[in-house]
Amino acid sequence: MDVPQTVATALDDRPVSGATCLEAGAGVGNATAGLLEADADRVYAVTNDGEHAATVRDRVGRERLDRAAVLEADLRDLPLADDSVEIVTAHCLFNVVAPDSLAAIAAELTRVAAPGSHLVVDDYAPLPGDAAVRDLFAVENAAAELADGRPALTFYPAAVLENLFAGYGWAFDRRRTLLDPVPWTESHVDAHVGVVRDAVERLATDSGKSEALGESLLSEAERLAESIGEESVGELYSVAMRLPG
Ligand SMILES: C[S@@+](CC[C@H](N)C(=O)[O-])C[C@H]1O[C@@H](n2cnc3c(N)ncnc32)[C@H](O)[C@@H]1O
Repeated sequence: MDVPQTVATALDDRPVSGATCLEAGAGVGNATAGLLEADADRVYAVTNDGEHAATVRDRVGRERLDRAAVLEADLRDLPLADDSVEIVTAHCLFNVVAPDSLAAIAAELTRVAAPGSHLVVDDYAPLPGDAAVRDLFAVENAAAELADGRPALTFYPAAVLENLFAGYGWAFDRRRTLLDPVPWTESHVDAHVGVVRDAVERLATDSGKSEALGESLLSEAERLAESIGEESVGELYSVAMRLPG
C-alpha cells in the first residue's frame, strides 16, 4: 500500500507497532494504510461516507482485512467500547468538521482511548489572506452554508485543536510541520469545485428556489479554479498528544 510521506512522518515517532488504533475520518485510507504499514495490530477506520468506506476496504485489500475494520459510523457516537484503543489518528479530518461538532468528536475520541493513549492530529493551518485558493474555499463554504447550514471547510490553528483536546485531559507532546507550503494541485482544486457542485445540487433539490444563486456560485467556483490552476501555500501540521497513563 502506498503511504504518503506526510502520514509516514506523522507516525514515525509513535509506538504504532502492535497497537490497537482508531483512524478517525478514514477518507481515502491514507492514514489507515500508514498504520497498517507501521504494523498496527488492529485498525478501526471510521467514516460516515459510504463511498469512502468502500474505497478504504478496497485499498486495504482482503489480505489485511483481518487487521482492519472499516466502520461506517458517526465520530460523535462511536460503536467502540470505552478505553478500547491505544492510538487515535485524525489525519486531515478536522478541516471538514464544523465548529459545532468539535466538542462531541473530541469527547468521543477521548472516551474510547485507554489511559496512556497517543493522539495524532494532522491538519491545515489557516491560509494567509493573499492565498488565491481562499477565494475558492469561500465560495465552497457559501454553497455548503446555504445547502446544509454549516461550512464545508474550517482550517483550525494547531493551538486551537491542542487546547480542545487539552480540555479532555490530553497533554501536548510535540508539533511538527508535514508540508510547507501545501501543494494545492489542479486535481485538488477540481475536487473543491466538485464539492461546490454537490452542494448546489442539494440546494436545488431541497429548496428549489435558489437555482440561480446555486448556478452563480458554481460558475464562480469554476472561474476561480480556472484562474488558480494550482497553488502552493499554507502549512500542514502534525500535533501529537498523550493521555496520562
Ligand atoms: C478529508 S477526509 C480524511 C482523510 C483520511 N484521514 C486519510 O488519511 O485518507 C475526512 C473524512 O472524515 C469523515 N468524517 C467527517 N466528519 C465525520 C463524522 N462526524 N463522522 C464520521 N466521519 C466523518 C469524512 O466522511 C471523510 O471520510
